[in-house]
Amino acid sequence: MPTDGRGPVDRTSMTLTALAEHEDKAAALLPAEVYDYFAAGAGAETTLHESRTAWEHYRVRPRVLRDVGRVDLPTSLLGAEVSSPVVLAPTAFQGLAHAEGERATARAAAATGSLLALSTRSSTPLEEVAAAGSAPWWFQVYAMRDRDLTLRLVERAVSAGARALVLTGDTPYVGIKRRVTGTRIAIPDDHFLVNLQQHLDPGRADARRAAEQDPTITLEAISWLAEASGLPVLVKGVLRGDEAVACLDAGAAGVVVSNHGGRQLDRAVPSAIALPEVVDAVAGRAPVLVDGGIRSGLDCLVALALGASAVMVGRPVVWGLAAGGEAGVVEALEALRADLTHVMALTGAASLADLDRSLVTATSIWS
Ligand code: FNR
Repeated sequence: MPTDGRGPVDRTSMTLTALAEHEDKAAALLPAEVYDYFAAGAGAETTLHESRTAWEHYRVRPRVLRDVGRVDLPTSLLGAEVSSPVVLAPTAFQGLAHAEGERATARAAAATGSLLALSTRSSTPLEEVAAAGSAPWWFQVYAMRDRDLTLRLVERAVSAGARALVLTGDTPYVGIKRRVTGTRIAIPDDHFLVNLQQHLDPGRADARRAAEQDPTITLEAISWLAEASGLPVLVKGVLRGDEAVACLDAGAAGVVVSNHGGRQLDRAVPSAIALPEVVDAVAGRAPVLVDGGIRSGLDCLVALALGASAVMVGRPVVWGLAAGGEAGVVEALEALRADLTHVMALTGAASLADLDRSLVTATSIWS
C-alpha cells in the first residue's frame, strides 16, 4: 500500500496476521504484569470481549461491477489531512512496551501519514513526542484534580503543535481490572508524572493525587478547555446519542464513541452497538470517531459504513510497539490499511465516500 493511502489494491501487503503475531510476541517479551496491564479489561471483561465480537455481528451487502481498480483512503479530520481513517488511540505509558515508547509511535504515525492521539499519561514528555514525528497529532486530556496543572499541560500541548484536544469523559475513576489485581504493576511516580514534573514543586507531597483525574468535572470542562487552548475539543467515551448531543451543545467539536477498550465500566455497551445511535443523533454536526476491538479491515469498514468519520486503534499499536518498535507500529497500521483497501474493493467501494449504511446489516449480538 503506498504511504499516501491512494492507489491500486496491493495484495502482497495484506499481512493481517501481523496483528496476532505482534500480540503473541508482546506476550512473550513483556513481563507478565506489563502484558496484563495493556491487555486487561475491567471487571469480568465482558465489555472487553464484546468490544471485539460486536463488530463481527454485522454482515456486508456488497455492490457489484464498480470500478475498484484503485481504492483511496485519504481523509480530513478537523482540518488534518491523513492518509487513512485509522487513527492511533491514546494509550498510557508506552515506555513500558518499548524503550523508545511514544517517540517510536510518533515516528510510525509520521511514516504512515496517520493521526496520533497522545495520552496525558505518556511515558515521554509531550514536546519530545511532538518533535519525533511530523504527523498531525491530538492531545488527550484527563482533567486533573489540580486544574492549574491541567492548564499548564494543555498550554504546552498547544505550543508543541497539537491540532485538537481529546477530553476523556469515561474515567472519573480508573476502572478496576481484576486480571492485574495481585500482580498489579505499580507505576512509579517518575513515570506517572513525567509530563508534569516541571510544574510540581520538588517534594510536593500530594503530587500524585493532584495529577489524578478530577471526578467532579462536568460538561463545562469542554468550553473551559476550548477557550483555554483555542483548539477544537472532542469528547471521548460517549456511548449514547443524547450524550453526544449534550457534548456538542456544550461546545465539543466531535465525539469518540468508546468504552475505553473495555477498561472502565464492565458491561458498558459495545461501541459497535452504540455507534449508529450516536451517528444518528449527531446528524452530521461534527465528526464521530469510534474505537474498541477494531482489529481488521472489515471492522473498519463496518464502522465507517455505520457513519464513523474514522476509527481509533489502541492495543494493536501497543503490541506492534512491543514487538518491533517503530517498525512494528508501521506494520500494524499498514496491515490494517491494506486489509481495509482489500475489503472495500470487494464491497465495491473505491473511496470512503462510497461507504454508507446500506452496505451493512446487523445480526443480533445478544442472541
Ligand atoms: C487506554 N486508553 C486510554 N484512553 C485515554 O483516553 N487515555 C489514556 O491514557 C488511555 N490509556 C490506555 C492504556 C491502555 C493500556 C489501553 C489498552 C487503553 C483507551 C484507548 O484510548 C482506546 O479507547 C482503547 O484502547 C480502544 O480499544 P482497543 O483498540 O485497545 O481494543
